Amino acid sequence: MKKIIAKKNVDLLRRASVQRELGLPPLKSNMSPFRYPGGKGKLSKFLAAFLIENDLHGTVFVEPFCGGAGGSLPLLEAGLISHLVLNDYNKAVAKFWELIKASPDTLINKIEKEKVDIERWKYWRAIYEDDAHPIDINKAFSAFFLNRTNRSGVLHAGPIGGKDQSGNYKIDCRFTKKSLIARIEKIALLADKITVKSQDAAQIITESPQSAFIYADPPYVKEGKGIYRQFAFEEEQHRQLSCVLKDEARYWLLSYDDDKLVHDLYSCSDINVVELSYVMNTAKLGRELLIASSWLTMPTLDQLKCSKSVVHDVKPLDHVV
Ligand SMILES: C[S@@+](CC[C@H](N)C(=O)[O-])C[C@H]1O[C@@H](n2cnc3c(N)ncnc32)[C@H](O)[C@@H]1O
Repeated sequence: MKKIIAKKNVDLLRRASVQRELGLPPLKSNMSPFRYPGGKGKLSKFLAAFLIENDLHGTVFVEPFCGGAGGSLPLLEAGLISHLVLNDYNKAVAKFWELIKASPDTLINKIEKEKVDIERWKYWRAIYEDDAHPIDINKAFSAFFLNRTNRSGVLHAGPIGGKDQSGNYKIDCRFTKKSLIARIEKIALLADKITVKSQDAAQIITESPQSAFIYADPPYVKEGKGIYRQFAFEEEQHRQLSCVLKDEARYWLLSYDDDKLVHDLYSCSDINVVELSYVMNTAKLGRELLIASSWLTMPTLDQLKCSKSVVHDVKPLDHVV
């Protein structure tokens, strides 16, 4: 029978007693300057438990679909992994990561001086949508600005509060300069342990050293188009990704939305269901799956049960193959 891990058990990882039990180092939350729908900041404790369970402490950690890299940065900061490869096909996003490494002060100055209003939103949106614009600091900043000022952090969505700013929340409510600068400064300190790339995920996976750990968080099957537009996947790309991952004897963990296609593609792997709720367009709540290569082990429920305070009435999900 497949192991089932429920969201409430993953949530238990927030407890200091459970973290101690599993030998997790202290992990920071919210290290990413980006907001991503379905961002994986909440997953870092689970990722830590997963690495420890599989003796992958000190590994090179590859994120072929990094987005805001919410799950992996705390692992690097805590010294649980030795190096982090951040890759995103969106060149503006990848450029922002590069600049955090190469010239954080320039970015910080830009954030400090930036006026966050609808005029500036229009200015940055024009740059972001101009395909002929070079991939430079302005292109990178346009992605960052839109990510912090658009609804749900969706790069092609409208601004928080609407174009007439009549909503309850205003355009600058997520552009919290002080905390964003602090995050950039923290990541910049780790610069020599971060490599940034902007290639197709499949290429990054195939080129990664065999001993590296790959955490793949591809665009969702169901809502991908609505969130990532040109960076969403067609069915064929989901199929190709599964071939690349299953083809080689690598260490990988994959997070996906709970869709039949995903079950079809990975039914031969050790499918493990983790109910992680994610919120899109404020109301929709979905469930996510975590799938690991079959020679890796999910941190078991039994381990969590060791802690006295743990709840363990988890029901198997019928449709899981
Ligand atoms: C689900 S998001 C990742 C979110 C991330 N885990 C986080 O915590 O913020 C998927 C990311 O994959 C990127 N992407 C889409 N197609 C890609 C491809 N073919 N290769 C690499 N990255 C791609 C998108 O630009 C997007 O940033």
